[in-house]
Amino acid sequence: MGKQFKRTLITTALPYANGPVHIGHLAGVYLPADIYARYLRLKGQETLMIGGSDEHGVPITLLARKEGLQPQDIVDRYHSIIKKTFADFGITFDIYSRTTSSIHYETASEFFRILYDKGTFIEKISEQYYDDEARQFLADRYITGRCPHCGNERAYGDQCEACGTSLSPTDLINPRSTISGSAPVMKETKHWYLPLDRYAPFLKQWILEEHTEWKPNVYGQCKSWLDMGLQPRAVSRDLDWGIPLPVDGAEGKVLYVWFDAPIGYISNTKELCPDTWETWWKDPETKIIHFIGKDNIVFHCIVFPAMLKAEGTYNLPENVPANEFLNLEGDKISTSKNWAVWLHEYLSDLPGKQDVLRYVLTANAPETKDNDFTWKDFQARNNNELVAILGNFVNRALVLTEKYFHGIVPSPSVLGDFDRTTLRALTCVRDEMERLLDTFHFRDALREAMSLARTGNKYLAESEPWKLAATDPARVATVMHIALQITANLTIAFAPFLPGSMTRLGQMLNLSPQAWNRLGSVDLLPPGHALGRAELLFEKIEDECIQAQIQKLSDRKKANEAADYHPKPIRETIRIDDFDKLDIRTGTVLECIKVPKADKLLQFRIDDGLTRRTILSGVAQHYRPEELTGKQVCFVANLAPRKLKGILSEGMILYAEDADGRLVVVTPETLVRPGSEVK
Ligand code: 2FM
Ligand code: ZN
Repeated sequence: MGKQFKRTLITTALPYANGPVHIGHLAGVYLPADIYARYLRLKGQETLMIGGSDEHGVPITLLARKEGLQPQDIVDRYHSIIKKTFADFGITFDIYSRTTSSIHYETASEFFRILYDKGTFIEKISEQYYDDEARQFLADRYITGRCPHCGNERAYGDQCEACGTSLSPTDLINPRSTISGSAPVMKETKHWYLPLDRYAPFLKQWILEEHTEWKPNVYGQCKSWLDMGLQPRAVSRDLDWGIPLPVDGAEGKVLYVWFDAPIGYISNTKELCPDTWETWWKDPETKIIHFIGKDNIVFHCIVFPAMLKAEGTYNLPENVPANEFLNLEGDKISTSKNWAVWLHEYLSDLPGKQDVLRYVLTANAPETKDNDFTWKDFQARNNNELVAILGNFVNRALVLTEKYFHGIVPSPSVLGDFDRTTLRALTCVRDEMERLLDTFHFRDALREAMSLARTGNKYLAESEPWKLAATDPARVATVMHIALQITANLTIAFAPFLPGSMTRLGQMLNLSPQAWNRLGSVDLLPPGHALGRAELLFEKIEDECIQAQIQKLSDRKKANEAADYHPKPIRETIRIDDFDKLDIRTGTVLECIKVPKADKLLQFRIDDGLTRRTILSGVAQHYRPEELTGKQVCFVANLAPRKLKGILSEGMILYAEDADGRLVVVTPETLVRPGSEVK
């Protein structure tokens, strides 16, 4: 058993305020954090859950420039969208603030200053690209040029998006500043570095020796960073958006976004509890848990702890239960490619179904490895689990009580073996769920809650009270009494996961919210208690709804492919007499048939105005013969005939090739005489 703490401070990664949030955010960070926070509060433990927007960094400045706005406009817009979305999904932050708040500026500057005064940083001068016209240093993303690997002319100074290679700005061939378009020059600049290497012995001891209980994916990533050896990291940047470096000789420099962002957890706590914030950060009786995604592990397990250690008065996190990534229909979620289920869109397409998404994303959470979200799985989990198991059970319990006992909880009589085993299952749930929730196994904890609903379903199905109503009312009373106790327990077991639905179920049972330690009680609804009105807790999701979502994604994929399409470079120049050698004509397709035993070939009979000719084309995978019969086409009329599959082809029909390799026949815009020259 680990150390017992008096209170828990839960922090959630501060999302960048440069776009809305999607299912990956929810599944990876905010749902597990919210489930954990709700669970601790239900247990009566002192808990704070801190959130907020991360409003600095280069991508925000790039987006602002693209939209012709100021960075502040961008973060104002997305901060309020994100904040509302989280509220809509029932994420219970005690505060959701932002890193552009004045309290954060003060806190982060002061933090830097303390480390500076202690002599923690190394100052180093290095050369960096500079835009002489715009008179500013260029962040990697502000430089584009040719990728040395694939020749893409629009590669960025940190990565080529065409071939995926990581680059540094000096790798680019013919680099250009995206601000002025001019060629950047190298110029010396000074930066402040956090010497992570000096903290390696402490980090190794603290993580590798003292936190062997951390999740294997987190522990493993930390170990590999520590094994590779840590290097000093620059904590300043030449940028005009961010928190100015609070030291002399650092004009035009700001704190690196990853230096200020985690301090945002502290600032937000201060904003919420101006008088007691230190208890949450410095009292050894407080346990700090960082909820993050796997791309944030190094910052939360290595860099931020090194900063806290350097400062010297703060607690270190007790655990960092980072998740892996959630993919979408087999592909990595990508904001820039619009490959995501955006949460605000989900809500407008499937209003009122927050808990369904909360359920599916928890049941399929990427806790140990990357997982895939598919709309089919979403539908199946809703229909086969929420509706068929949980919804079905509680509805039968309520409706049957209404029918046989006018909605009044009946008294049980003598219990049989089946009743006793069912009740035993009920009393085991709490221990098992606590073991799982305390160790951040939210998926398994949810499965445990669902298995209680399954037990209830099985109990009713096998007890068949509807067959006994006339003959054995005492037995019916016992069965319904037990079924109702299970139902009441479900409101507790599911409360951290499906808060909206459990509030509704509580109203149907006329039962106020119960503390966690009441889970497993067999007397939550005493005999004589009057229930409320039964309603359906979940509803089936039909194929059309799912199909519409799948179609939406497939449309986006097509749009992306079109946007990613880079036409082939133009071939070498030819002279007009080279072109004149080609005799291109229009013709009418009199007949079109498939060539037997050839997958790709169609055989055309063409009226070319003078005579009729046969042409073969490899388009059987793009057109059905009847689609082209009667159409006018353009074809090369003076191509030397050649035999294909034993058939003489006299010319070549012209097609345009689409981004995805689809061939589209070229036809005159209005009907023309067959044999007209194309020039
Ligand atoms: O990865 C991200 O979205 C970062 N904005 C997370 C920051 S977490 C914390 F340090 F604020
Ligand atoms: Zn490339």
